[in-house]
Amino acid sequence: MMELGTLEELPVAYREKLASSSLTPLWPMMRAALPYDKPNRRTKPHVWAWSDVRPSLLEAGRLTPMEKAERRVLILSNPGLGLGAVSATPSIFIGMQLILPGESAPTHKHSPSAIRMVIEGKGGYTTVQGERCPMEKGDLILTPSGLWHEHGHEGTDPVIWMDALDLPIVGSMEAAYAVDGDLQNVRGEPDSSQTRYKRSGLVPYNSLGSRRADYPLIRYPWAEVRDALNSLAGVTARGEAVQLAYVNPETGRECLPVLGFSALMLRPGETIKPVRRTSSAVLHCIEGGGQANIDGEALRFSESDTMAIPTHAEIEITNTSPTHPTFIFQVDDAPMQRKLGFYEEFARAK
Ligand SMILES: [Fe+2]
Repeated sequence: MMELGTLEELPVAYREKLASSSLTPLWPMMRAALPYDKPNRRTKPHVWAWSDVRPSLLEAGRLTPMEKAERRVLILSNPGLGLGAVSATPSIFIGMQLILPGESAPTHKHSPSAIRMVIEGKGGYTTVQGERCPMEKGDLILTPSGLWHEHGHEGTDPVIWMDALDLPIVGSMEAAYAVDGDLQNVRGEPDSSQTRYKRSGLVPYNSLGSRRADYPLIRYPWAEVRDALNSLAGVTARGEAVQLAYVNPETGRECLPVLGFSALMLRPGETIKPVRRTSSAVLHCIEGGGQANIDGEALRFSESDTMAIPTHAEIEITNTSPTHPTFIFQVDDAPMQRKLGFYEEFARAK
């Protein structure tokens, strides 16, 4: 590797002249800007324990009324990205959101895309462009860029969900913004997962023509995803990941442009070793628990815990229960990396 010149080697007068002209020499910072062989990663492998998150979120419910919060969210700040970081990984914003009985989070829309993964509580709902989606534990609900959405709660106990947004990406482009809207007119029919897209492999006939919607399916009910994982597990060799991707039923591709979503099942006692990928990820344990080894760091996780995985990480995940399956929801930035043309997977060293 070539030895590069440093800033100190340059005459002070030259450096001052460059600075006064808003110019910067690349070569002294070449290795920092474009590291050799592997990226420099500040993101730390990290687990946010539900036993820490939940009490703090409920305390936020006592301290801050909805009128003063608009969205009552605690952000998962990756410890490697600095105090108060608004990212769990460089591209993924993760927030934990609490809504108390009778509360609502008013209608708005924004340039970043978001999803909800429901963690606890009954009676919550999200309305997206007039489509009212019930929120049950493990349900995935999309609120894509530019679509009106609001949240409400008609149950009796707190409802908590995880938000994942591509906000760090949109924000880095200085393109993140939101606008408020009026209460939506709700269509008087069940959401599309129960009507137009009831079964995978079947789509409304007209969608094959020119009437394709960008975001045809908003809600992916957990009961169906869990059932599908169980069926896939029955035909998948042990040690091979039982993993299903959430896709747009009309295109068969990822359902949002930047972030991708999938669900993983680990059978009792099973260890999986996914290939090393250029994408970063956040794993949320829907059910069960286990141990993850990320770049040599052993991290235990239980139900409703959330874990950050840096880009290029070596990963191993074990379901430590001898009797029960573990189910994990994965968010990653592979869709964006594929579009930008640099997504890679690396074979594991033997
Ligand atoms: Fe929102």
